[in-house]
Parts: sequence; structure tokens; C-alpha cells
Amino acid sequence: MMMVVVVVMIIINSILSVLHQRNARLALLWHDVFVERFLNSLTGSSRPQRLLKAVQRNAAKGDPQSVISAIDYFCRHSEWAMNVGDEKGSILDSVVSEVSPTTALELGTYCGYSTVRIARLLPPGASLITLEFNPDYAAVARQVIAHSGLQDKIHLVEGPSGDSIPKLKERFGITSLDFVFLDHWKDRYVPDTKLLEECGLLRKGSVLLADNVICPGAPEYLDYVRNNPRYESRYFQSHLEYTNVEDGLEKSVFLG
Ligand SMILES: C[S@@+](CC[C@H](N)C(=O)[O-])C[C@H]1O[C@@H](n2cnc3c(N)ncnc32)[C@H](O)[C@@H]1O
Repeated sequence: MMMVVVVVMIIINSILSVLHQRNARLALLWHDVFVERFLNSLTGSSRPQRLLKAVQRNAAKGDPQSVISAIDYFCRHSEWAMNVGDEKGSILDSVVSEVSPTTALELGTYCGYSTVRIARLLPPGASLITLEFNPDYAAVARQVIAHSGLQDKIHLVEGPSGDSIPKLKERFGITSLDFVFLDHWKDRYVPDTKLLEECGLLRKGSVLLADNVICPGAPEYLDYVRNNPRYESRYFQSHLEYTNVEDGLEKSVFLG
């Protein structure tokens, strides 16, 4: 009898994990609710802590590319996590390389995957400010960033974006931002873009790149940047990190 239950559970698990590869809501429900909660209670640790362990075990210290590869390997072979991922990450890389920002801002650090990805491509003397309001995630991100050796290029600010953005000019002595990566909760994309405008942090030519505009989706943001004479916007089709579900990045140039 026990054998039958185990076999049925293995079959259900296989069917669900194949289905989640193509269905957006099922994918997020599967990874963020079932698998994460199950593994948290089984291991007594959090997903970011498990990801950090994978970095410390498998990535060479001071080598950002090996930190990125260790996280991608962990997320493809052990446990999905909400990093921008390798596929959309290569689009992020090409936009960052094209813009070559001196001053960059990231909204939503999580474990520091995209932070390391962006910072490793910055020109000499440039810096990246990254905002995260979850102290547990920020603590993990600090260790991931330190492992990559890029800590001197990165300022991690803990707190909600709505509170941190108005203080950026004074705190970091910046006049405007060359590049902004939006990857925090999707309902903050429009208010924080408006806040960046109001605070005078965008200049003619500033580039915004927004993740997850299809999955889980940011329809209000797409409407805002695509139907606004102050932006020139373009969609880059891709897939939700580590799955076959459609997702993409929206690149929007602020026209002043
Ligand atoms: C999708 S994850 C970021 C992934 C990360 N950019 C990467 O690719 O490695 C979103 C993160 O944004 C943070 N976040 C959400 N809303 C925020 C806000 N208003 N201010 C600061 N952090 C926020 C969440 O705690 C979460 O860690």
C-alpha cells in the first residue's frame, strides 16, 4: 500500500513539474508556495539561505561570473528562485553594456543576483545603488555581493523604495541616473517611475529596464511607458526565469 502511495506521489509530482514549465500561474504557485514552503520546513532554512550556501560552496571568491553561474545552476537543478535568471540576464547584460552607466539604480535586490550581474559590467568609477526592503534578503545579498568581490561598486540601501528614492540625490551626491532596473513588486513600477521623474532623477537619455512585464505582469506600467510622449519604449521577449513561460523586459528611454 505504502509503495502505491509513493508511486502516485512521484507521478503527481512529475506531472505538476512538467505543467509548471508552461503555465504562468501554476509555475509561480508551484515554486513560491508548494516547493519553497515544503523545503523551508524540511530544512529549517529559507530559500535565500540555501542559495547563499550554494554560492559559498560552488563559486570562486572574487569571481562575479562564477557567482552568477553558481546561482543559475542552483536554480535550474535544485530550486527555482525569483532572480532575473540567465536568459533575461543576457538581455540585461546587453542593455547595461550599451548604456555603460556611471550611476545605476536597481529596485529589488533579493539575493543580489542581478546586482552582481549589473555591477560586473559597470565602467571604472561607476556605481550601482540597489534597494531592498526585506532585511533577511538584504543580509543574504550582502554576503553574495561580498563573495563576488564587487562590494566597492555597490551600495545596498535597506528600506521601501518610496522612502529611499527621494533621499538618493542627497545621500549619494548624484544629479541623475543613467540606468534604472525595475524588478521589485510590480504595483510599485508606475508610482516609483513617477517618483523618479518628480525627484529629477531622470535626464534625457536615462534608460529604464523593467523585468516581469508579462509574468507576473505589469500592465499599468506598460500602458504608462508605451502611451507617454516622454518615453520611447521597446519590448524584449523572453521567458520567466528558469522556465518556458513567456515573460519579457521593457526598455524605455526617457526623452526629457
Ligand atoms: C523579483 S525580486 C528581485 C530579483 C533581483 N532583481 C534579481 O534579479 O536577482 C523582487 C525584490 O524586490 C523587493 N521589493 C519589493 N518591493 C519593494 C519596495 N517597494 N522597496 C524595496 N524592495 C522591494 C522584494 O523584497 C524582493 O526581494
